[in-house]
Amino acid sequence: MAGYRELYERSLRDPEGFWGEEAEAITWHRRWDRVLDDSEAPFYRWFTGGQLNTAYNCLDRHADGGRGEQPALIHDSPVTGTQTTYTYAQLRDAVARFAGVLRGLGVGHGDRVIVYMPMIPEAAIAMLACARIGAVHSVVFGGFAGAQLAKRIDDAEPKALVTASCGIEPGGVVDYKHLYEHALSEAAHAPTTVVVKQRERQPCELVNGRDHDWDSAMAHAAPADPVPVAATDPLYILYTSGTTGWPKGVVRDNGGHAVALHWTMKGLYGIDPGEVFWTASDVGWVVGHSYIVYGPLLRGATTVMFEGKPVGTPDAGAFWRVIEEHGVAALFTAPTAFRAIRQRDPEGREIAKHDLRGFRTLFLAGERCDPDTFVWAQNRLNVPVVDHWWQTETGWAIAGNPMGIEPMPVKPGSACKPMPGWDVRVLDEGGAELGANEVGAIACKLPLPPGTLPSIWGSRDRFYNEYLSTFPGFYRTGDAGMLDSDGDVWVMGRLDDVINVAGHRLSTGAIEEALANHPDVAECAVMGVHDDLKGQVPVGLVVLTASCDRDSDAVAKECVQQVREEVGPVAAFKHVAVVPRLPKTRSGKILRGTMRKLADGEEPTVPPTIDDPAILDEVRHALADLRKHWDV
Ligand code: COA
Ligand code: AMP
Repeated sequence: MAGYRELYERSLRDPEGFWGEEAEAITWHRRWDRVLDDSEAPFYRWFTGGQLNTAYNCLDRHADGGRGEQPALIHDSPVTGTQTTYTYAQLRDAVARFAGVLRGLGVGHGDRVIVYMPMIPEAAIAMLACARIGAVHSVVFGGFAGAQLAKRIDDAEPKALVTASCGIEPGGVVDYKHLYEHALSEAAHAPTTVVVKQRERQPCELVNGRDHDWDSAMAHAAPADPVPVAATDPLYILYTSGTTGWPKGVVRDNGGHAVALHWTMKGLYGIDPGEVFWTASDVGWVVGHSYIVYGPLLRGATTVMFEGKPVGTPDAGAFWRVIEEHGVAALFTAPTAFRAIRQRDPEGREIAKHDLRGFRTLFLAGERCDPDTFVWAQNRLNVPVVDHWWQTETGWAIAGNPMGIEPMPVKPGSACKPMPGWDVRVLDEGGAELGANEVGAIACKLPLPPGTLPSIWGSRDRFYNEYLSTFPGFYRTGDAGMLDSDGDVWVMGRLDDVINVAGHRLSTGAIEEALANHPDVAECAVMGVHDDLKGQVPVGLVVLTASCDRDSDAVAKECVQQVREEVGPVAAFKHVAVVPRLPKTRSGKILRGTMRKLADGEEPTVPPTIDDPAILDEVRHALADLRKHWDV
């Protein structure tokens, strides 16, 4: 078998040969005409002319091909004290039946369906059911507020919403009914059909004529067969944060996605059919799409869906229990989960209580893994730890350690080697290529490999402007970093106002928008500052309107509540200070970078264009005051 270097070089030299061969592992209804279609470059498409069904490839071909009795999905839910296993045959049947429900409700090829659900098997079933009939799902993370759901509804204009009566978080029950009713009343394009999975913990009232109970709809539906769709048809839209408050709908196609994810399951994660793969994330994030649902099932592996947390459900041993009980070969999670575990169990006592002999590899992504956490995990678990770097837009890793090909030497803090098809370069502001160990903007030479975004939903122009126009011929990742002299990739952080809170990507713009909606707020700025557990947390500075004579603390409390209601609890927005003014340049531009440094306790260089340097002292004091409270 070829080693990493040979394979990687071939993928760049001969992308059509490389991915064309990988595509043989997928079952096609109609073979493609072209592997890589460059007729509309820089908008490349993969496997044009091909037809397939992603749900068929995830389920039927395994169910009918000898894996019918093998577990496909294990739902492990410490928050409800239940465990449920679906074999491939059972999962296929449930998906076919829910596909029948959707079809009966008028959902067809190309129609959008919003899935707003907690971590229950029905979420994966709904996604796969959409794929089965060629509908396009858009999953919205449950930690987002109703207003965020409304924005996504208005952008996707869905025919149906699939949801649940409640979610269960360690802090209590999340009232989904309240959240989605808020969204439906606020959205201009609210769907007229809603399917609700009633959960025992807190069922909700259904609206006559609009709502359908999941269980009774399933009991009455006829199963639907998989429908062949074009390789280039959208499988899903997943909204992600940009610099503005308006989320971007990343589009994923069917053909390239199936081929690329299937390759990663062996090449990157080293997983064989029949093995157990566990991604401790949420189906609302790209990590959940690719590696709770599609990747493991495309490979014929068993996926674990975990409705719990690394700590508190019930303790810091939850991960090790799940690995032992279900025979997990590889775990994929975010470094923040390990920081949480380490805080509670620094000696790793909980680890020692479990038999982890079948556990081979830990994969971390979603944020940069600090070397401390990396080394701690490696030493305590005694398995290779792989930090790998990717984005919602890419759908799979740009850089990582190819465990199924040839494990590479590991450098803590680095995301290791570029994956096949990824021609990673580091550029300066003018687009000139930088040398080894020089930090700049990370960009990837076009064409990107299969499985990556072909567009932003509804706007190819937006796709072009946001990703392709800055450096012609390259995809702009939005991340800063470098390549070292061995060609290893180091990702240092974002170049824009996107922040990363506990592995969750958030836009400071969305939080600012929520703050600006408070009637007493005249101006505001939100920055991400370092946090030992979550990596970053947002901190807000607000200037009150001239007419406001209310107590600043009271307004600050309301601001926190406002963000929770408009963005959602996932923003973890708890720190806000009232300041008399914001530092700006003479042309009126808010000096965010300067404030971010102050918030992180650093001394910024004062830009020569600053309007009034005295404001920096006011901000410094306000932030120092705020920090006193959040450090305790
Ligand atoms: N539905 C509703 N609310 C949700 C939610 C969901 N699916 N997920 C999180 N929330 C809420 C939480 O209940 C919490 O609310 P609170 O302010 O009322 O306590 C808030 O959003 C923040 O949640 P979370 O980010 O989970 O922080 P935490 O302080 O509760 O836990 C960690 C910290 C590190 C344990 C947690 O962030 C974690 O498990 N991270 C794993 C990382 C991960 O899965 N990343 C995904 C990308 S790979
Ligand atoms: P998301 O689209 O939510 O997956 O977030 C993608 C962003 O998270 C990237 O652009 C990076 O800024 C960050 N990120 C993800 N994985 C890593 C990693 N392994 N190292 C550094 N940053 C990462």
